[in-house]
Amino acid sequence: MKDDQSVDILDLNYPLLVKFKEASPGTFAHSKILSELLEKIGNALGLNSRKLKIVGFYHDIGKTVTPILYSENQPADYNPHDTLEPWVSFALVSGHVAHTVQILLTDPNIDREIVDICSQHHGTTLAACFFKKSGSEDENAFRYATQRPQSFEAALLMMCDHLEARIRSEINSGKITNKEGIENLIDIVFNYLVDDNQFDDVAIPSFRVLRKLKVILKLEFSELYKDHKRIDYTKDS
Ligand SMILES: [Fe+2]
Ligand SMILES: [Fe+2]
Repeated sequence: MKDDQSVDILDLNYPLLVKFKEASPGTFAHSKILSELLEKIGNALGLNSRKLKIVGFYHDIGKTVTPILYSENQPADYNPHDTLEPWVSFALVSGHVAHTVQILLTDPNIDREIVDICSQHHGTTLAACFFKKSGSEDENAFRYATQRPQSFEAALLMMCDHLEARIRSEINSGKITNKEGIENLIDIVFNYLVDDNQFDDVAIPSFRVLRKLKVILKLEFSELYKDHKRIDYTKDS
């Protein structure tokens, strides 16, 4: 790694992270949660936990270009998508992946491998909310057009990112009120991403690792959201 000498890109005082937190406190809070979760998973599964922690922190930094587009940064009474066509919303929101790549490529302390993993975190997934809102039958118009995960680390990033967003949203809407709800949702999201072909390019280390991964995810997400209270990033970050 380029970053193991005098500069630590995981130091909260690292200029890029300072700018990130100032510009998008909600996204920063989400990314910090992911970085800590991915580090724990890396340690438990014997993977490169530092690399996982870095991609957790930086995968969404492109959202700093227009933070208000993303729910985690919006105040309770304003959502710009309420008055935008869903096609426009999706074009704007999906742009954060390219922006992430642009920002990371200009930082000499960030390895190319990190950029590649971050660039794959949405793969070809469907932006379901905009698709539903559009009434269109053409799913492909609302799918990200980026590369699917190409490594186990990239698959873990996608998995945890989807889970964190989905669990937070279902707790906030009152759909999930207990540990069982979180555990069921983990199985649902896990199977959905597999069935949606998002991990077709990834070799899994072993079924043992997959089994352990599910155990860790259930444990950590239940712990993280054990109060099952509304999670408002715009206030607690
Ligand atoms: Fe993202
Ligand atoms: Fe994310």
